[in-house]
Amino acid sequence: MCGIVGYIGKRSVAPILLEGLSKLEYRGYDSAGIAVYNGSEIQVEKAKGRLAVLSEKTNGGQSVNGTVGIGHTRWATHGEPSDVNAHPHLSQSGRFAVVHNGIIENYIALKKRLESKGFEFISETDTEVIAHLFEYYYKGDIMEAVTKVINRVEGSYALGVLCVDYPDQFIAVRKASPLIVGIGEDENFIASDVTAILKYTRNIYYLEDDEIVVLKRDGVEIYNMDLEEVQKEVFTVNWDVSAAEKGGYEHFMMKEIEEQPKALRDTISPRINNGKVVLDDISLTTQDIKNIRKIYIVACGSAYHVGVVGKYVIEKMCRIPVEVQVASEFRYCDPIVGSKDLVIVISQSGETADTLAGLKEAKNHGARILSIVNVVGSAIANASDDVIYTWAGPEIAVATTKAYSTQLAVMYLIALYMADKLGMVTSGEYARYVKDIEALPDMVAKILENKDELQYLASKFYNCKSIFFIGRNLDYAVSLEGSLKLKEISYIHSEAYAAGELKHGTISLIEEGTLVIALATGSELFDKTVSNVKEVKARGAVVMGVTTENQDDMDTVADYVVKVPQINETLLPSLTVIPLQLFGYYVASLKGCDIDKPRNLAKSVTVE
Ligand code: F6R
Repeated sequence: MCGIVGYIGKRSVAPILLEGLSKLEYRGYDSAGIAVYNGSEIQVEKAKGRLAVLSEKTNGGQSVNGTVGIGHTRWATHGEPSDVNAHPHLSQSGRFAVVHNGIIENYIALKKRLESKGFEFISETDTEVIAHLFEYYYKGDIMEAVTKVINRVEGSYALGVLCVDYPDQFIAVRKASPLIVGIGEDENFIASDVTAILKYTRNIYYLEDDEIVVLKRDGVEIYNMDLEEVQKEVFTVNWDVSAAEKGGYEHFMMKEIEEQPKALRDTISPRINNGKVVLDDISLTTQDIKNIRKIYIVACGSAYHVGVVGKYVIEKMCRIPVEVQVASEFRYCDPIVGSKDLVIVISQSGETADTLAGLKEAKNHGARILSIVNVVGSAIANASDDVIYTWAGPEIAVATTKAYSTQLAVMYLIALYMADKLGMVTSGEYARYVKDIEALPDMVAKILENKDELQYLASKFYNCKSIFFIGRNLDYAVSLEGSLKLKEISYIHSEAYAAGELKHGTISLIEEGTLVIALATGSELFDKTVSNVKEVKARGAVVMGVTTENQDDMDTVADYVVKVPQINETLLPSLTVIPLQLFGYYVASLKGCDIDKPRNLAKSVTVE
């Protein structure tokens, strides 16, 4: 989705903005622009398409002079991708320039009102309303204008605002859309994502909703809506710059797939001490856990798929009923959730609009919120009662891999922690479970040694028109993720089915040569899935089985078999997902797809 970068300092701003925006390209965008105060006016340069077009237009920023400015990458919501719809937007007289992430929900009413006052709109965007509103309310005091604008607009926004009358500062505002402030020496920054400014500073202020920031060369002032100054703690980001760079890999996705052993280690190790799961991060007491009536898991996309695994694992280990809901449904279904329920919210970015709204809905009903989040200080983390961070580091590829894996690991830790508090595991089972969780990073590393096998299989199937994934219980949960991974980056149609459900309709799509990827790891259900494999084979399907090293029977029915090491069955999703990620990656690579930035997708979905 859209990205924002802003800078004030002593250096030439345009190259810094372009470079910062390039670090946000992964979020998905279709046009870009910058606005720079050049000593007499605000100069705006915009271009549809890749950032390279804007860079060429401005000679890498050299043709735009100034030391304060704002930049934006746009992912079209209101109006097609075009130069005119790209941000920044100028107010009528050119006094204000605005970049905006989010959506202004009442922009039509505001636009009509401004038009009746003589304002002329040149773009189709909701953002242009903000630029004109600034001009409308501005009577010589920019802070007064900011509060008036904020009071009038409804929706979500992260804003960067430049004003000709204030050449030595710029303004930023945040509401329900990510925005951080970077603190440098004689220079300061804003960005919608820390990766944009990591090269210059690791000292960050995480903004909360309705905070207004005045950025000057020598300092940053933060105010609330009543214009009272707010004191905030500086947070030091511990990622190094290389974490957000490709480091020799062709794609971030492959780099992130390979980073999974480390990400798992970083997420698991600090939470296991002397054979015990230690969740210092959360304040749930044993009594709180005993009092839980029901657990809801609320998330979107791959994070939702982690929730599907979580349902099976928590119900099996803790015998507490778990309902997993897609956040965009949960938020509008008037959920029967209350103070006796725990809501587990899962999100890599911590900013997904639907997930955040689902969280708020649950909170309004009195539920307790435990979130699993990767981005420290994000909106979902801030709004939760308890947060367990996944230490996956920055995830740049749009298709999640290491965040998914670390979310799974946290889910296992939570399940075991709660099962222990509820007295549902024996000390022997507990010790074995802990040992197996600790073994996951090395096992994943071992599977990654077999990349060639998946590359070979991808070379056989990358021309397929449609690929089905089947499995039962946990294998079904992983099938969902394998199918999403494949389709989102390779654009091959794919569906995941509970293996037993296929014959209730979808099996009619199976024809000679259709690839079915069958996951069969759970010992209890292995034979059942093998029967389903036979059913599809009888209808002409080619089957790739995914199973564990000790299951030889798959070799007799499937055309190709991929094996992962044996481990506690509950933990197998962490292993079986790896070949599926690799398969999706290699298929997309052979098809020449834009793997890190698949069409139509954005990394962080901050609009509904
Ligand atoms: C798919 C993918 C998405 C995200 C989903 C939720 O590879 O990455 O499906 O999982 O958009 O995003 P977060 O986790 O940031 O809330």
